[in-house]
Amino acid sequence: MSKHTKIRRNTVPMIAARKGGEPIVSLTSYHAHTAAIVDKYADFILVGDSLGMVMHGMESTVGVSLELMIMHGKAVVRGTEKALVVVDMPFGTYEESPSVAFRNAAKIMKETGCGAVKLEGGKRMAETITFLVERGIPVMAHIGLTPQSSHVMGGFKTQGREEDSWTAHEEDARAVSEAGAFAVVLEGMVEPLAAKITKQIDIPTIGIGASAECDGQILVLEDMLGLNEWTPKFVKVYGDLGPAIERAVSQYAEEVKDRSFPGEDQVYR
Ligand code: KIV
Repeated sequence: MSKHTKIRRNTVPMIAARKGGEPIVSLTSYHAHTAAIVDKYADFILVGDSLGMVMHGMESTVGVSLELMIMHGKAVVRGTEKALVVVDMPFGTYEESPSVAFRNAAKIMKETGCGAVKLEGGKRMAETITFLVERGIPVMAHIGLTPQSSHVMGGFKTQGREEDSWTAHEEDARAVSEAGAFAVVLEGMVEPLAAKITKQIDIPTIGIGASAECDGQILVLEDMLGLNEWTPKFVKVYGDLGPAIERAVSQYAEEVKDRSFPGEDQVYR
């Protein structure tokens, strides 16, 4: 047998089958290097449109283009071999009609080699989800706090604080599940609502700021690594890469200025 046995990439049915089972681990990643590290531990990797803010300094995800998602999606697919790679459909590329959504989702899948796309919206996107799935495009849905609609929602607000708002979220969850989505991200949602939805639907719920009651969890990698100055309150920061990078850069700058860089052993003669 070859020493280099090919690792099989996780598939959409493998993720869907984890409903109610071993919790699903996922993170975002936007480039090949971090994706290769995340790949060892994550069941799926999301190339999220949060890259607009995290990588490109945008104010929101609204300005992210299809081309940007494809560029980062390609890098993540290249850097990984095990995790299912899911690429976000950016704002304005799927809401207009199911056929516009199909054209853009197919472009993402063909050009990046990813295994699925994610789009935001519940009931209003159900018809589009069915249209895509019936034509071979696996869809992860995203409900609750949906950043692409932050202008309509009036900012990034936790969803479900008032119990009388729960019905709409429950209907959204049921609609995307029945439409054929293989999993759904619940973002910024109070715990009892996330728990209720997780019990009610047949597909895995992936929480981000939605409690441990979900079937899996996702975080933005740069948030949990401590790379962003501001992170949402619910994010547990596991690393301190921001300060670590600053220490390294300032030490380098000092060494250049006092002419102690490069050291003797790094000089070609
Ligand atoms: O774009 C993103 O990073 C996301 C996660 C917050 C789920 O959609």
